[in-house]
Amino acid sequence: MPFPSIAWDDVRRQLRTRFSETSCYSEVLTTITHLECSLCGKRHEAGQVHNLCECGGPLLVRYDLQKLKESWSREWIPNGPSSMWRYAPVLPVSKPSAMISLGEGMTPLINTKRLGARLGARDLWVKDEGVNPTGSFKARGLSCAISMCAEFGIQKVAIPSAGNAAGAMAAYAAAAGIEAHIFMPRDVPQSNFIECCATGAKVTLVDGLISDCGKMVAARKDAEGWFEISTLKEPYRIEGKKTMGYEVAEQFRWQLPDAIFYPCGGGVGLIGMWKAFEEMEAMGWISSKRPKMIAVQAEGCAPIVKAFEEGKPRSEFFENAETVASGLRVPKALGDFLVLRAVRESGGTAIAVSDEQMIDAGIALASDEGIFAAPEGGACVAALKKLLDNGFLKPEERIVIYNTGSGLKYLKRTRRAILAKGINHGYSDARD
Ligand SMILES: Cc1ncc(COP(=O)(O)O)c(C=O)c1O
Ligand SMILES: [Zn+2]
Repeated sequence: MPFPSIAWDDVRRQLRTRFSETSCYSEVLTTITHLECSLCGKRHEAGQVHNLCECGGPLLVRYDLQKLKESWSREWIPNGPSSMWRYAPVLPVSKPSAMISLGEGMTPLINTKRLGARLGARDLWVKDEGVNPTGSFKARGLSCAISMCAEFGIQKVAIPSAGNAAGAMAAYAAAAGIEAHIFMPRDVPQSNFIECCATGAKVTLVDGLISDCGKMVAARKDAEGWFEISTLKEPYRIEGKKTMGYEVAEQFRWQLPDAIFYPCGGGVGLIGMWKAFEEMEAMGWISSKRPKMIAVQAEGCAPIVKAFEEGKPRSEFFENAETVASGLRVPKALGDFLVLRAVRESGGTAIAVSDEQMIDAGIALASDEGIFAAPEGGACVAALKKLLDNGFLKPEERIVIYNTGSGLKYLKRTRRAILAKGINHGYSDARD
């Protein structure tokens, strides 16, 4: 017997692949007007290849938000593709044929059942970015950046990465048929190394941190003809990441939560969400109310927390950076001043947690809610506990934690941590 009540068209729309999914935006893709330097304010033309402004400032993409206010409705968003490309008018890609999508975005926003109750947060949610392609939120930024490379006809790209961005870039470059050059620390999680090899990227392992990888890319890119996709040195990764901000608004029916916990390495996701909130307000989609933005770092690498506590506008290079959360091992972020500004303007804070606290909190998140998080997600849970305990946050506030990656990408590290707790059950990985 048929089930006439099922809206099969909707189901089909959810399941469609990239070309038919994006076709609903084929007439009205981007409304980009120009790029603007976040330091000196200089205007840069759209339609040209850009890295930083001459003054060294990262460039931010600007759109015709006034036109969108009159011609685009937030009510139409659910008719778009079930991916971050439903926000195509506020993304920089102009040609549908250039969009390189593996289904990134529209990640679940999960209401916690037990974790919030145990920590004393009555309205606690997890935005689970671990279900993105390549297992982390880096997919959003790299989908957008590699799409722009495809649009500009760029053939070779290079990235310094703490790990997950490397895996994401390798995947999207493979999907685009672009040559990928990856520079990452020799001790990145095994998954990051393997995914880059599997997707055919050229991998250079570096005895050092992401900052050392960045220097190597900068030194070689001109001679090699690589386009550099370093965090914020390339203006479009942030545009993909900002869709985390659009989605949380849409998923809460255009009411932003009271607080957002974000694990902060380079800080691009946090800056991106802040930008998304400004854009949405300009289009009349949300009010001027903002969540308290909470930048979470590791005690072993906490330059933003240090600058925040010292009341400084910029951070200093954090010596001997070390943490199990590879994505947080960023000793100096190019966009530190933008992170600090957003955190301060929002009435939020910056807070560090230890590796042990983030691993324990990650295990609590997994066993309470079934969400097997990256250590970066665990760090946010540990930070939440601290801010509830010291009264910075109230039990009734609506709080969202961003779990930026899947725990499946950190199996060796997590295994070590659970072994240290005496949990093994006689497991053998001899044939793994
Ligand atoms: C899982 C994970 N979380 C958070 C971060 C930090 O990202 P952002 O540069 O947006 O601060 C990274 C960066 O590598 C990451 O891989
Ligand atoms: Zn400038």
